[in-house]
Amino acid sequence: MTDPSAPAWRTGESEFDLSLRGVGKIYPGNPPLHVLKDVTLDIAPGEFVAVVGPSGSGKTTMLSIMGTLDAPSTGEVWIGGVATGRLGEAERSRLRSDRIGFVFQQFFLLPALTALDNVATGMLYQGINKRNRRRRALEALDRVGLSARASHRPTQLSGGEQQRVAIARAIAGEPTILFADEPTGALDRAAGRRIVHYLRDIADAGTTVVVITHDQELAALFGRRISLLDGAIVGDERELVSR
Ligand SMILES: Nc1ncnc2c1ncn2[C@@H]1O[C@H](COP(=O)(O)OP(=O)(O)O)[C@@H](O)[C@H]1O
Ligand SMILES: [Mg+2]
Repeated sequence: MTDPSAPAWRTGESEFDLSLRGVGKIYPGNPPLHVLKDVTLDIAPGEFVAVVGPSGSGKTTMLSIMGTLDAPSTGEVWIGGVATGRLGEAERSRLRSDRIGFVFQQFFLLPALTALDNVATGMLYQGINKRNRRRRALEALDRVGLSARASHRPTQLSGGEQQRVAIARAIAGEPTILFADEPTGALDRAAGRRIVHYLRDIADAGTTVVVITHDQELAALFGRRISLLDGAIVGDERELVSR
């Protein structure tokens, strides 16, 4: 790939990674709100990254843009060697359903469905047949320690377990990147730590995991912490000691 505006270190071939180049976001208004300011960063395959910062610092906006749910006002988001801003909307949503998983603070499970069906339903638009959807859903539930709860409905599960079902739904389609926006925000500390533990396992298995949190204690459990303040990156540290 010889695109001169591509991140310099990219090979453009097989590695899946995430790069932001000069990403800005301005919400129109009087005055306009400059929510992200010239954000440039690279995230390598399999990294386990926390994005930390106080409320209103632009974390959710940055995650929506990294996940191609929202477009930047300036700059470009590269995913796996692809400049996402140059894709059409249909191609972008294809990229999203094939490569990206999302987890939110609210679990968004369907109350009438079992854990297994909640997870399997997440793969409906990937062209995977029903039998394989069920098999993959069971495998994904197993990865978050819930294979014994596959036939439970959300009301029969704790908050932490419901969030683990949501994580299983997000990883069942085998995304290359998993984004989570305050996934522990509705949980107590012990359940939150367990969520981080499962997310770390997912990153160790090769999926890039990017998690937003305003909780510094939880952020300390990540391999890399990117700090955001007033829409700008003010810190980017990696853990020095491997655990
Ligand atoms: N769709 C929007 N329109 C206008 N302003 C927005 C919109 N979304 C977020 N904002 C504003 O952008 C700022 C950053 O919000 P957000 O990205 O949600 O921060 P965080 O997730 O760190 O709390 C806030 O001031 C918020 O009010
Ligand atoms: Mg937020």
